[in-house]
Amino acid sequence: MKSYSVKELLDSKNTLHEVTVKGWIRTFRSNRFIALNDGSTINNIQCVVDFENTDEQVLKKLTTGAAIEVTGEHIESQGKGQNFEIQAKKIVVLGESNPETYPIQPKKHSLEFLREKAHLRVRTNTFSAIMRVRSALSFAVHQYFQQNGFNYVNTPIITGSDAEGAGEMFRVTALDAKNPPKTEDGEINYKEDFFGKETNLTVSGQLEAETYAMALGKVYTFGPTFRAENSNTSRHLAEFWMIEPEVAFLDLDGDMDLAEDFIKSVLKYVLDNCKDDLDFLEKRLIEEDKTKPQNERSEMTLTEKLHFVVDNNFKRVSYTEAIEILRNCKPNKKKKFNYIIDEWGADLQSEHERYLVEKHFNCPVILFDYPAKIKAFYMRLNDDGKTVRAMDILFPGIGEIVGGSQREERLEVLQQKINELGIDEKELWWYLDLRRFGTAVHSGFGLGFERLVLFATGMTNIRDVIPFPRTPQSAEF
Ligand code: 4AD
Ligand code: MG
Repeated sequence: MKSYSVKELLDSKNTLHEVTVKGWIRTFRSNRFIALNDGSTINNIQCVVDFENTDEQVLKKLTTGAAIEVTGEHIESQGKGQNFEIQAKKIVVLGESNPETYPIQPKKHSLEFLREKAHLRVRTNTFSAIMRVRSALSFAVHQYFQQNGFNYVNTPIITGSDAEGAGEMFRVTALDAKNPPKTEDGEINYKEDFFGKETNLTVSGQLEAETYAMALGKVYTFGPTFRAENSNTSRHLAEFWMIEPEVAFLDLDGDMDLAEDFIKSVLKYVLDNCKDDLDFLEKRLIEEDKTKPQNERSEMTLTEKLHFVVDNNFKRVSYTEAIEILRNCKPNKKKKFNYIIDEWGADLQSEHERYLVEKHFNCPVILFDYPAKIKAFYMRLNDDGKTVRAMDILFPGIGEIVGGSQREERLEVLQQKINELGIDEKELWWYLDLRRFGTAVHSGFGLGFERLVLFATGMTNIRDVIPFPRTPQSAEF
């Protein structure tokens, strides 16, 4: 007899007669109805237990969380809510649970409570839906790039360079922390460390991706990224996944086109392929909204929000225009912002980004041509000598989702920038070589995968869209 997934049993066109299915009990009510889930879909299959002919010992073990194998007749459902159900003939308890101590009871748990049970939370509807959407999005990312001629490159996790120049890195060392070797000046002697130098977990694969773009033309990375910034916010993780395409002979306008097309394409994939999960997440959001004050409720449902992004053009605005808008806006004049914008050159905080996206433009916004001073060293300097060809994409409810730029391809300009910032040229010798041998215009961007998952699922805390979040003071599991 054939084993089926719950999804196969529910999506079947016709009855399948005798079948076997394995899964975990979500609920068992009236000593008769098991709601069984195996993770293949948000929906459960109802298994109707033949109370009279089932061993009492087995019946006792049919509790929430137990793993079971059910064999029975796949029939059209008598009850409402599902097309098919199983008239169980035989039930084998594969793994018992304990109704007294099992944390995932069939009731509503808070997201905070579930974060502490990250090893079990994926057994809830909310987290299984999020994680299936996350998986579908990953597939869509690879599909988009593979279908558009990009090569997937795996850039190193351990690096000796600081790509973003922000210094927020986790050190990688094999030295004895209690008794490290010292130089004559009393400093830790990294020459004696594993790699013979200081190394860190990467903050971005961009610099290495550039080397590959300058040979393979179009490349992308999709891997873990680490930042030791101590920002305990709902948008930051210490370990997150970043997607970084890099393209030779592409300028900033092309880069913006690529990013916009890419985001629309992967969100459309989710709309087309994750209907049941999105329906569930949408309802969850509507329920959550009801607990909020009227003015904080969202105007659109989750699927409306996704369609809105897929069907509309992102608004492209220069940093200079954005500063003008912000300088003259109400919250700035009434000093409602924590950081008041009064001068060109100010770094934008998330309150400003969200004002632009959620209040002023009401759609995704691409800001470009930022002041050189507030951006990384590798961005191409504009002819005005003070702005760089940078772009950030800002999303409603999220803020910055993408950061990218056209790269500085002129050796002397790049060298000058590096020297100004006090970076040792020797550390970047290989990066500068790209400008020595066959240099060309090239561009790329980085998209924070979890921020994309946040948007696609309507969740609000980044800790809820990655299986095991790493944040300050928290690395359990
Ligand atoms: O803007 P960032 O720092 O850009 C770079 O790292 C470039 N090297 C990318 C490139 O041009 N190849 O980071 C890119 C994106 C951000 O827009 C944000 O979505 C995400 O990465 N991000 C984070 N996501 C979660 N937690 C954090 N701590 C993040 N820091 C950045
Ligand atoms: Mg950025």
